[in-house]
Amino acid sequence: MNHIISPLDMSVDELEKLLDLANDIERDPAKYAHVCEGKRLASLFYEPSTRTRLSFEAAMMNLGGKVLGFSEAGSSSAMKGESVSDTIRVVSCYADIAAIRHPKEGAALVASMASKIPVINAGDGGHQHPTQTLTDLLTIRSLKGRLDHLTIGLCGDLKFGRTVHSLIEALVRYENITFILISPEELRIPSYIRNGILQKENIFYREVVRLEDALPELDLLYMTRVQKERFFNEDDYVRMKDFYILDANKMKLAGPDMLVLHPLPRVNEISVEIDNDPRAVYFKQAQYGVYVRMALIMTLLDIHL
Ligand code: CP
Repeated sequence: MNHIISPLDMSVDELEKLLDLANDIERDPAKYAHVCEGKRLASLFYEPSTRTRLSFEAAMMNLGGKVLGFSEAGSSSAMKGESVSDTIRVVSCYADIAAIRHPKEGAALVASMASKIPVINAGDGGHQHPTQTLTDLLTIRSLKGRLDHLTIGLCGDLKFGRTVHSLIEALVRYENITFILISPEELRIPSYIRNGILQKENIFYREVVRLEDALPELDLLYMTRVQKERFFNEDDYVRMKDFYILDANKMKLAGPDMLVLHPLPRVNEISVEIDNDPRAVYFKQAQYGVYVRMALIMTLLDIHL
């Protein structure tokens, strides 16, 4: 049984094949319109989502399959005390594959251990978001032409930002990647990433507080939202939330080819005035999320043309 719980559940070769399939789907979606006929995706979202849930559902529908599920814990039997393990055992009787988002770190792993169908982690608390990483990798490879030899700025909430944690884990497997970690002191990258991955793998990185100090040298800037839902204290959130605002003036410090990615949703961290800058690719990135999830569903269900 194949599950995707962490970005490392796929080797680099498997990942390249998945991205190739996603690019082929992008070129000719009609070719794939019926490959999942008779298959069902269970979309189990215990936490709010727009992109991940809807792009998974769109992906399955684009492949000719059907979707069932819930979009909040409040409309599921979690409210009656049912465990994630019991829920997935039951859902295994109704669907062929499941995408699960949960506020607790490790929930998707727990689900996968009880599941009879492939489980995809659609975000577990502040831990991992592997399908956002697949989306990011497809975006970078499609628009930059490579996943190696890149200087990447990761900016914002690096402490709780699961998209950043997953992206680092995936990118350290490529040659000559340099990270500039841009965050306020309170939201620095967790030590399990700094010591356990970056230092252990001898990856070049440096930590800075000012976005302006990093912008001129970046190939990519990955902006993230300060996540209100991960703070225990409202005052801390209010103090941090507008720490970074990428606007047209700051973009003047960046090179002409620097791409701006953001997993979205954004709040204030990217000014809408740069949405039409050709370097701002976060809405294109959301579109790539559908292609890569189509490719992932096909891969996990072992469906080939
Ligand atoms: N990028 C992302 O995970 O967005 P949603 O929370 O809307 O799914």
